[in-house]
Amino acid sequence: MIPIRLLLSTALAAFCATASAESLTAQATLHADQPGATISRHIYGQFAEHLGHCIYEGIWVGENSSIPNTRGIRNDVVAALKNLQVPVLRWPGGCFADEYHWRDGIGPREKRPAMINTHWGGVVENNNFGTHEFFDLCEQVGCEPYVCANVGSGTPQEAMEWVEYMTSDADSPMANLRRKNGREKPWKLPFLAVGNESWGCGGNMRPEYYADNYRRYNTFVKNYAGQKVYRVAGGPNSDDYHWTDVVMSIAGKYMDGLSMHMYTIPAGHWTTPKGSATQFSENEYVMTLKGAYMMDELVTKHSAIMDKYDPEKKVGLVVDEWGVWTDVEPGTNPGFLYQQNSMRDALLAALHFGVFHKHADRVSMANIAQMVNVLQAMILTDKEKMLLTPTYHVFEMYKGFQDSQFLPIEVTSPEYSVGDKKIPAVTATAAISKAKHVVVSFVNVDPRNSATVSCKLAGKVGTTVKARILTAEAMNSCNTFDKPNTVVPKAFDAFKRSGDQLQVTLPSKSVVVLDIE
Ligand code: AHR
Repeated sequence: MIPIRLLLSTALAAFCATASAESLTAQATLHADQPGATISRHIYGQFAEHLGHCIYEGIWVGENSSIPNTRGIRNDVVAALKNLQVPVLRWPGGCFADEYHWRDGIGPREKRPAMINTHWGGVVENNNFGTHEFFDLCEQVGCEPYVCANVGSGTPQEAMEWVEYMTSDADSPMANLRRKNGREKPWKLPFLAVGNESWGCGGNMRPEYYADNYRRYNTFVKNYAGQKVYRVAGGPNSDDYHWTDVVMSIAGKYMDGLSMHMYTIPAGHWTTPKGSATQFSENEYVMTLKGAYMMDELVTKHSAIMDKYDPEKKVGLVVDEWGVWTDVEPGTNPGFLYQQNSMRDALLAALHFGVFHKHADRVSMANIAQMVNVLQAMILTDKEKMLLTPTYHVFEMYKGFQDSQFLPIEVTSPEYSVGDKKIPAVTATAAISKAKHVVVSFVNVDPRNSATVSCKLAGKVGTTVKARILTAEAMNSCNTFDKPNTVVPKAFDAFKRSGDQLQVTLPSKSVVVLDIE
């Protein structure tokens, strides 16, 4: 992998280094007495595709690698992911899923046929990482598998047999093939997607055609060994509400979840250039953060359409691709989607979590794109080196929200504006954790000004507060292989807790998570 080059222009560096000028004030009310829906841990899901150096080098190095590994999977990456409590991992794509033929990825590795990864750089895929390696990865990390079946270039038979291979305990052809390949017991497969982006790279289908195909595939994908696989139908691209309406009307009653993809492009639209991951203006900074508000709008509107066919909200909205998509790092393969990750991206992730929490009654899963070395990654690797990105740290800080119960928190905040683009400077999200602590997160996106939040606590809230902060000198601060700890969480004590009040002073561009017992 080509090392990351940070070429900060003098002007940008000066802008980013500007110190906090004033302190803003915001008011909030936390309703600890009004618990809402459960915030599924699956909202903190990940996605790993056969794309660039996500699987190969980022996860899989092979058993003979000098990089410490367990059965070919790198130990440093697994340890970092375990610490993140990754709940669920989506694989093998993405666009790759609709050209992936699972039988090519089983059996002795030296006999597996190669293929061309046509979507991602046209590189040769040797199929060294297949079904067994994926489930091994999930077992090592301790997460649940979410497999995407090939609809675009596959067949219902292929999908049906893959599910049988993975989950059947019968004396059946596919289960016996699995046994022959070294795995006696079936794996647990909680989640299965029927195709990926069928409106685009997954086959350029019309929603009517996809919906009928979904029904067809769904018929042949069986449940084995007492397992019930949660079936996710291919949903819309961003604001394609027509797709949601048609697919829900034709196939809504046959699905458990409907996917939705939305990427944030700093330039505001799908153009080249999309915007640099590290060399961005304040205009691009605010444009990027507005992505979270677009996500809120999309989830609200798609959910309203789903309500027409599913008023009880039995069908989950599965946001199985989201995150910031920038230009690739200079000098890297454009087909590998390798980008750096900054404090801005951590703020974007925190804002997205707030959106997913708010819609916890409908959003059953979300998977950031992607886990290692691709797009808004948690982890970057360079041969034997590994670093954790600011986005990794914000996922780690939010672990207390996994399977928590949503608590409403209203915030009145001054606006942060750049030209005509405006967003609230301060936002918050809160929940009661599984350990019955109140967990509150405050985000201040203003890159210059600190903000003091006076928060009224309604209902029962403890008094012992532990808090951590993620902030940085500049909005484009990032971790590099030379300086991997530039943006890391720290203990935080700029708060006062007394009576029914909590006062918190948030530095500029910061995420603070408080755990109140
Ligand atoms: O995450 C990268 C790509 O973005 C995925 O393969 C595809 O589903 C989406 O368009």
